[in-house]
Amino acid sequence: MSFLAPFRQLTPTQFETTWRSPSNIAFVKYWGKKGHQIPANPSLSMTLKECFSETKVNFTPSDTLSVELYLEGVKEDKFSQKIEKYLRSLVDFPWLQNISFKIQTKNTFPHGTGIASSASGLSAFALCLTDYLFHLSGEKNNFYPTASYLSRLASGSACRSVYGNFVSWGDKSDFVADPAEFHPDFLQLKDSVLVVSGEEKKISSTSGHGLMLEHYFSEARYIQAKKNFESLSSSLKSGDLEHVGKILECEALSLHAMMLTSPNPYTLLRPNTLAAIEMIWAFRLETKLPLYFTLDAGPNLHLIYPESCQNKIHTFISHELSSLTQRVIHDERGEGPSRC
Ligand code: PMV
Repeated sequence: MSFLAPFRQLTPTQFETTWRSPSNIAFVKYWGKKGHQIPANPSLSMTLKECFSETKVNFTPSDTLSVELYLEGVKEDKFSQKIEKYLRSLVDFPWLQNISFKIQTKNTFPHGTGIASSASGLSAFALCLTDYLFHLSGEKNNFYPTASYLSRLASGSACRSVYGNFVSWGDKSDFVADPAEFHPDFLQLKDSVLVVSGEEKKISSTSGHGLMLEHYFSEARYIQAKKNFESLSSSLKSGDLEHVGKILECEALSLHAMMLTSPNPYTLLRPNTLAAIEMIWAFRLETKLPLYFTLDAGPNLHLIYPESCQNKIHTFISHELSSLTQRVIHDERGEGPSRC
């Protein structure tokens, strides 16, 4: 990518920066990749507001690359190794191998709640790294494309977290995400996360993407995702919530159908996930309220609805769905990351 040229040859100096970056929920799912972090289909997400990571990075010149990561003040060797592996893979920036990284990060939401901490955590780290590249090079342009590019290499869905509102990836570019057009009505969109299970998932998203390589239905799924992407993009622009909701649910169920029908079948859905889905469908039929659900690669449901129905939907959640869930996190559309 030509916008990376100013960063190839730099001399490290001491630097410190802190960024907040939100999680995002995919409306059209990225599931399956070609080569190194290139999506097999376009995806589109809504950036969240309250669920974010706040990450501080100290960069210190050193003879060798080293990473020390603290999550909520506790040293986490597993995450340090993951970031170190990622930094070693950035071979276009050989000078990064001469830096010692101290990373202090925290999330506003607990682990294993169906809110992608990899999207927020890794985009927050990539934003700090981008800040450092821009500081060392004096570059002024393409900050967010650079941050999106670096986020994608850490975790695909993280590349969409560097922008607020609605964000697409794999349509205009496979390498960076782009802000998507949307109707002003969707500024009011809410997302209540029903945490059905906080257990760590048994099959990672990386393994799930891998299973798509030999999946009997993968080509059909990529065609469906592309069609859903086109259709959702146009409903997002026109303000057609009913159509957005229809695709939202189709995408969630298709993602989980891919897992169930993969060469090594598995499911991340729990009995309470299915019970809640049936109750949401029944509630919608009865009340005619625009309440829709989606799922990430996990058992927890994201309930999507407009602010105008918030009171009725909160009552429904607390009276009828709370017995199926461990906790509920109320979130909404957000504006994207910020430097602290
Ligand atoms: O970014 P990854 O590799 O963790 O994959 C994310 C996949 C989904 O969350 C299921 C879908 C998406 O587009 O975010």
